[in-house]
Amino acid sequence: MRFLQIVLDTAKLALALAGGAGAEAALGPNIEWRGGRESPAGIVHLVGAGPGDPDLLTLRALRVLQSADIVFHDELVTPGILDCARRDAERVFVGKRRGVPGIGQDEINRRFVEAARAGRHVVRLKGGDPFVFGRGSEELEYLRRAGVEVAVVPGISAALGCAAEAGLPLTLRGEATRLTFMTAHHASDAQAIDWTGLAHAATTIAVYMGGSAAPAVQDGRLGAIRGRPSRYWRAARRPDAQSRTGRLAELAALAAEAGEGPTLLVIGDVVAHSDLWRAARLAAASRELAA
Ligand SMILES: C[S@@+](CC[C@H](N)C(=O)[O-])C[C@H]1O[C@@H](n2cnc3c(N)ncnc32)[C@H](O)[C@@H]1O
Repeated sequence: MRFLQIVLDTAKLALALAGGAGAEAALGPNIEWRGGRESPAGIVHLVGAGPGDPDLLTLRALRVLQSADIVFHDELVTPGILDCARRDAERVFVGKRRGVPGIGQDEINRRFVEAARAGRHVVRLKGGDPFVFGRGSEELEYLRRAGVEVAVVPGISAALGCAAEAGLPLTLRGEATRLTFMTAHHASDAQAIDWTGLAHAATTIAVYMGGSAAPAVQDGRLGAIRGRPSRYWRAARRPDAQSRTGRLAELAALAAEAGEGPTLLVIGDVVAHSDLWRAARLAAASRELAA
């Protein structure tokens, strides 16, 4: 945020020094971004907020956040991201909190339509990307049917954010040539997955909502790769949370150790290239040398 402010101030200074239509045209995008444009009334933006760090918002997400009159958000959206919205924008939580029943999807949709029809610029903020396990398409369809103008702003999905944070390449030439995003919301979901189709050694799997299903994921994937060398996994969490790395046979134990919260599992040989895996191997080698 601080860096963005410096860029904008520099742009303003350059405009003041240079003057003239040419300079204004050249700096146009920066000026508009600063909030010079009127809020587009009656539109809903479905915005991906990324994995939690405000630095991982797109510039377009930041721009619409800064012009929104009302921001609907859920539990994956961090306070740092909400702080990027216009100071006087109304913020409405529509997610689920532990022990408190959430507002139903119908009611959420109804509120978007109501706010847009009242002429407000609505931002619907969703963790990661709205179209990756985010029910973004349901909201898009509802708004379209209601005749409300709607636009989607993509976000960095959790698998991409977590992989970058861990220095973990999700694909690797000659080693990992397939990438699957899947969800295992409940253990029963994980049991229903056709793991044999995912057993290929060159496949990296990113499992969303898989924390509590880790034992079933471990069993399913292990069963599918019987006879092959062990694969590895990593559970990555929000920036303030924890990461674990280990072999597939340890998945359930490590997930339990990592505790509650949004948990992403990455399974595949590429995990061996991650910073965490390398550090763990280095520590083990040093211990062996010292013994
Ligand atoms: C309902 S899905 C939403 C996914 C989101 N639309 C995306 O593209 O990342 C929620 C799941 O996303 C994953 N997730 C979201 N943010 C995360 C983060 N910061 N760290 C780890 N996993 C995260 C977890 O698997 C969580 O259970």
